[in-house]
Amino acid sequence: MKSTILTNLLLLLILAANSQTKIILHTDQAKDKISKDIYGHFAEHLGHCIYGGIYVGEDSEIPNIRGFRDDVVGALKDMQIPVLRWPGGCFADTYHWKDGIGLRGQRPSIVNVHWGGVTEDNSFGTHEFLDFCELVGAEAYININVGSGTVQEASEWVEYVTSSNKSPMTELRKKNGREEPWSVKYWGIGNENWGCGGNMTPEYYADVYKQFATFTRGNLYKIACGPSDFDYNWMDVVMQKTARNPGLVQGVSLHYYTIQTGNWSDKGNAAGFGEKEWFETLNKTLEMENLVTRHSTIMDKYDPQKRVGMIVDEWGNWFNVEEGTNPGFLFQQNSLRDAMVAAINLNIFNNHADRVKMTNIAQMVNVLQSVILTKDEEMVLTPTYYVFKMYNVHQDATLVPSNISTENYTYNSKSVPAVNVSSSIKDGVLSITLCNLNPNKAQKVELEITGDSYAEASASVITSDKLDAYNDFGKNEDVNIRNFEVDKPKNGKLTVELPSKSVVLVQLKQ
Ligand code: AHR
Repeated sequence: MKSTILTNLLLLLILAANSQTKIILHTDQAKDKISKDIYGHFAEHLGHCIYGGIYVGEDSEIPNIRGFRDDVVGALKDMQIPVLRWPGGCFADTYHWKDGIGLRGQRPSIVNVHWGGVTEDNSFGTHEFLDFCELVGAEAYININVGSGTVQEASEWVEYVTSSNKSPMTELRKKNGREEPWSVKYWGIGNENWGCGGNMTPEYYADVYKQFATFTRGNLYKIACGPSDFDYNWMDVVMQKTARNPGLVQGVSLHYYTIQTGNWSDKGNAAGFGEKEWFETLNKTLEMENLVTRHSTIMDKYDPQKRVGMIVDEWGNWFNVEEGTNPGFLFQQNSLRDAMVAAINLNIFNNHADRVKMTNIAQMVNVLQSVILTKDEEMVLTPTYYVFKMYNVHQDATLVPSNISTENYTYNSKSVPAVNVSSSIKDGVLSITLCNLNPNKAQKVELEITGDSYAEASASVITSDKLDAYNDFGKNEDVNIRNFEVDKPKNGKLTVELPSKSVVLVQLKQ
């Protein structure tokens, strides 16, 4: 073991002398599957995520199928969305699911207390969500109300959705037009119960979790509310009190938002920024590596077999809302910097595939770091969308472990590693995703592949001239996926020159 590490280090040192970055890819050590659900998304009843973004109603002039926007459905299918979390977020712990079933005109309206105090008419409820998931080919992940809901409500929701037996709930489902149960595996038990989900202590939450988990029956993957950011104590207590009871918990969540300024009252702007903001954002997002590592170590204490998945069900950039928009709607622009943040995080999650089993970027349409923005009948695919599309090659592929030695990208005497990588193998194709964080300098990367040998190479790139380039309504796309020239590999080696501020996919075939 020791000698392998030393040989790797030596190899990296020798090869790094000739290039700025040296990466060794160990195809002979490929073992862990990268769950496709790492590429998951999140849709909350927040701003125009659901209404206007996904759902416009059957009578809308915007082309739709059963009320779901044709353009959005098409784009999500094309991107390959494996799993979708709903209905929140903070909204989840105020949501009473029975408000959202039955004839649409007869559903009660409620106030969306967390997000702008707007009227929620409940026209998008359980049936609509599950219908939408079937349309786009995503698995459903439903987040149960713990903060203001009851155990009975939760247990009835699971029964309504998943049971094929005869019961008042399944009869109600049939009366509402759905004969067969849906197959919904993922159920979240509460959201941010340390904050908007009830301001609980971890000890109290863990007990409540066990109660809810006991009465939500079936072959389910139950996800406990985990910590935010650096709250290692929350993870420790929840794992300690739940994970030793097999069958009670299958996943624990983690939330981490990239707040460029570190200041919630002024989070910086999503567009119209300079290199300082670029650097700070990337620096902050790289924290995800430490967070996943440290929380995994805590999970290992109680679950060394890695039976319980880490579910990073909220992550991404959170900037100030765009000027002139409702502050409660959290609408922000999405630039090349967001592409970089998405790519860096997905590389991190891939590299931790042994523990990270699902992640859900926040949020899918028209909120925080969205893959899609809509304005009336128009739709824009954001730079983040193109990263998810490029990276879908990793879904359910086998992780290829890598070692990297790279120069630093330094700004204002602070430094981050210039290049970030992950790679996987599927159907004989080795896919390597690389980010060059440096906005001023290309990076010569030397790849060395141990194990299998490859003869063919192809590549694609996401980049732009401007740090804050974004795709706007009514204009040609500035940021999308373009072809990228690479040489063929020779003797297990390949040199790639990553353009400055770019995300690159290299694929090798035998
Ligand atoms: O994504 C927006 C909000 O951020 C979610 O509702 C909440 O869970 C988190 O604090």
